[in-house]
Amino acid sequence: MGKIAKLVIDGKTYELPIVTGTEGERAIDISNLRKETGLITLDPGYANTGSCESSITFMDGEKGILRYRGIPVEQLAEYSTFVETAYLLINGDLPSAKELNRFSVMLNDHSLVHEDMRAFFENFPRRAHPMGILSSMVNAMRAFYPELPERSDEEEINITFARLLSKVRTMAAISYKISRGHKVVYPRHNLSYCANFLNMMFDSPVRPYIIDQDLVQALEVFWILHADHEQNCSTAAVRLVGSARVNLYAAISAGICALWGPLHGGANQAVIEMLQEIYESGGDPAPFIAKARDPNDPFRLMGFGHRVYKTYDPRALIMKKMCDKVLKKLKRHDPLLDIAKKLEEVAIKDPYFIDHNLYPNVDFYSGIVLRAIGIPLNMFTVMFAIGRLPGWISQWKESLDDPHWKLHRPRQVYIGPKKRDYISKKERGFPV
Ligand code: SDX
Repeated sequence: MGKIAKLVIDGKTYELPIVTGTEGERAIDISNLRKETGLITLDPGYANTGSCESSITFMDGEKGILRYRGIPVEQLAEYSTFVETAYLLINGDLPSAKELNRFSVMLNDHSLVHEDMRAFFENFPRRAHPMGILSSMVNAMRAFYPELPERSDEEEINITFARLLSKVRTMAAISYKISRGHKVVYPRHNLSYCANFLNMMFDSPVRPYIIDQDLVQALEVFWILHADHEQNCSTAAVRLVGSARVNLYAAISAGICALWGPLHGGANQAVIEMLQEIYESGGDPAPFIAKARDPNDPFRLMGFGHRVYKTYDPRALIMKKMCDKVLKKLKRHDPLLDIAKKLEEVAIKDPYFIDHNLYPNVDFYSGIVLRAIGIPLNMFTVMFAIGRLPGWISQWKESLDDPHWKLHRPRQVYIGPKKRDYISKKERGFPV
């Protein structure tokens, strides 16, 4: 296949290079387009625009493929842990036993949160949304953990990675405990990353938390499935803010804010609210599907559809199985799971959903798993953020090392008024 694209503008032919990726996906390199033709491209929401070349995650939206550094996410969910997957994403390969141990020790050493930060947590309104608290506290980390001149850049970056991966998890638990007026539980050196989180969330002086390895495993899988997803909205935000060379805490805080949106990471909370509404209205999904189909109704079926996947999100398949496994282990029945399965069954046979390639995405079943674990609804997107941290970090690091990297500054097509003069206040009827 040709390596050149030809573009004819006003009778003149321009040649543009074609870039081919590892898996054969092709792109037209337009980095010199304006210089050569005077024209720019226009692509609202960047649905057709690649912002970078990346070696981290590969997705095939037509075939429902997702791989981290070449490894299928199904295998990582089956055999890996979240900490090992985080190492893989950030460093490019699976760790040796020594490397994994060193990484785990670093995460443990950085798992405590600066005691002076507690005053911040304690002064947020009790009903503040945890995503607002998290983005504020992550941005505040630079103030509490300033760069030390005696550290090398590499040392500083690796410690910042460890602080974010470990402390963001601790912060999430702190904000939950304080919101309940409960005693904060500290991380323990003898618990794994995921078990530590559950213990910090649910342990209490009057009712010690009994760690259930099946729930720990469910959390490992949940966070592995959320760890990266190429140039999604929040990762693009981290890369864009990071391109101004601001500190990583500020760039990650921007990613948390983008993820908060109900069209993105906030969908896992919105799905449960939607399923709850269907349940309370008698359990029939048909009226909700009709609303989702209605072009005049802004209602979207939450947890359905995806910018890239035009088939089943591979993560949703794994999450759906995890729902059954966790509820069976807990000997619990969640009526919202029945509603979700019924909704999926009806929707995927509906011509509108078929024509629009709308299938369940990662958020459709993930909330059922979080409910079963005992995570409160308003923390569902925080759980997504903790999972996505290794992805944001690895993408930021890749951008730092990218020789083609430059400040993100998109162009536009101006459609406003032509040149006109200022109209004096007198002519505009202002009182003289
Ligand atoms: C995540 O990008 C990522 O990788 C994200 C993510 C990650 O891991 O980072 O996978 C995580 O954000 C998953 C998505 C979670 N969001 C939701 O579940 C919210 C509901 N879904 C949608 O709003 C929507 O599907 C998006 C936002 C996810 C994607 O939409 P696009 O690609 O921007 O497409 P669009 O909004 O232009 O929709 C195209 C058509 C429209 O109809 P037409 O005007 O062309 O007739 O499909 C329709 C839309 O109305 N449509 C839906 C729908 N999603 C799209 N109609 C009803 N219900 C839906 N859910």
